[in-house]
Amino acid sequence: MLQDKKIVFSGVQPSGNLTIGNYIGAIKNFSRFSEEYETFYCVVDMHAITVRQVPAELRRRTYETLALYMACGLDAKKNTLFVQSHVPYHAELGWILDCYTMFGELSRMTQFKDKSAKHADNINAGLFTYPSLMAADILLYQTDVVPVGIDQKQHIELTRDIATRFNQVYGDTFTIPEGFIPTDTMKIMSLAEPTAKMSKSDPNPNAIVYILDNKDDIIRKFRRAVTDSDTRVCYGEGKDGINNLMNIYHAFTGKSNEEIEREFDGKGYGDFKLAVGEACADGLAPVRAEFDRLIAAKAYLESVMKEGSEKAMYYARKTMSKVRRKIGFVN
Ligand code: TYM
Repeated sequence: MLQDKKIVFSGVQPSGNLTIGNYIGAIKNFSRFSEEYETFYCVVDMHAITVRQVPAELRRRTYETLALYMACGLDAKKNTLFVQSHVPYHAELGWILDCYTMFGELSRMTQFKDKSAKHADNINAGLFTYPSLMAADILLYQTDVVPVGIDQKQHIELTRDIATRFNQVYGDTFTIPEGFIPTDTMKIMSLAEPTAKMSKSDPNPNAIVYILDNKDDIIRKFRRAVTDSDTRVCYGEGKDGINNLMNIYHAFTGKSNEEIEREFDGKGYGDFKLAVGEACADGLAPVRAEFDRLIAAKAYLESVMKEGSEKAMYYARKTMSKVRRKIGFVN
């Protein structure tokens, strides 16, 4: 099986309520690979503890993230869905790759710089070596394709560098992965500050639309979205707010920029914002309904996690025994 199909791996941190940025930039794209690829979608709880988490909330969000994967169309029979900490090989390979990742490389990571500015009282070693654990996630499964938003591009490039370096020293060990980053949806921006990424850790709730927000909240948030002093709905420089709303509208309706411009020709921003809110709320309604059903079925979610981690373990073990042998660990 491993040799027949190409491998897809991606992960989401259970570190906050998931946003439409997570949905449009990543999760929505996951199911397109289910048929033709061997797919691994992981809830990366070990990455989440690089920032302080309340234990009960971390546990709850781990279940929720898994339920959201499924509510967004990932069938547990066709995709390997699992929790990172259930497969100890991630930590093992993470440590090994730390020893093949340079201090300078990690120092250049923009996510590290951003997060250490945000959490100045807790710049821990895990936050710094976060990217080599992420490289371990990806390389353990001999991954070919990693669907992510643009904010993860630098981490994927580093993963490729680490894998190439390791392969140069020990001979072919890891597949060199490629990112899958569709340009139209790669970065959904904050509704309050459209030059900044929409982020689940943003303290301003009006800046973020959560996947599980109800229709009224979604419409209210879009109505308040920051735009510009122009009135024409069109894509262009200096129109970050409108560009972002057009990207979101495109994600939920499939309409191109030209089609959107034609649809709102002669109409104002108010009409457009309402249409985006409705498209988003309606697009997410089935996800919410399925989520509510799944989150109530805790035992089922646990069985999915268990089966997923067993299957992941099978693949990860193969890579680990190769790595251990190559670096000279006694069997
Ligand atoms: P995380 O949990 O921050 O985000 C999960 C996914 O959502 C994408 N994303 C966005 N895309 C577009 N617009 C946005 N505003 C937006 N916000 C988030 C992210 O790019 C990501 O794809 N380091 C990863 C988790 C991870 C991982 C991995 C991913 C750990 N190991 C291995 C892929 C492969 C992260 O922090 O994602």
